[in-house]
Amino acid sequence: MREVGRGERTRIALTVNGEPHEIEVEARWLLSDVLRHGLGLTGTHVGCEHGVCGCCTVLIDGHPARSCLMLAIQAEGARIETVEGLAQDGRLHPLQESFVRSHGLQCGFCTPGFLMGALSLLAEAEGMSDAEVRDAIGGQLCRCTGYKGIVDAIRRAPAVERERTR
Ligand code: FES
Ligand code: FES
Repeated sequence: MREVGRGERTRIALTVNGEPHEIEVEARWLLSDVLRHGLGLTGTHVGCEHGVCGCCTVLIDGHPARSCLMLAIQAEGARIETVEGLAQDGRLHPLQESFVRSHGLQCGFCTPGFLMGALSLLAEAEGMSDAEVRDAIGGQLCRCTGYKGIVDAIRRAPAVERERTR
């Protein structure tokens, strides 16, 4: 664990990408920092650290949340999914593959947050208009693109998923 200050630590238990962890944290440590520096899951990116950019989005008990706005100690007992948990057996998740195919990333800094934020859209993404997808991902900021590739990638992800079951 990276030293980020002195203070009393509390042991918390959480499950990250299906693996149980017990870790000692100070009450003031952010979940984003504990994921990155405590567990080495640096795929969760930190942009603004105050809830604006969405780069730090992870799933907490199945719901997207900004890990920079949550204290690690609040995650006691939670089930957390990070971008590292998306690929399985060396194969990209259909949403990741769709981002690659549709050029939904440039520098990639925002990409983990977009992926985790868009996961819950997959069932309905294909039938959504561009405007509806843009609205749904309004909490994620990309500094590189005009969002077209990202929107296309999200809408096409269900088709990528279907290809795999043929
Ligand atoms: Fe969490 Fe920007 S780093 S919202
Ligand atoms: Fe660079 Fe989004 S791809 S910030």
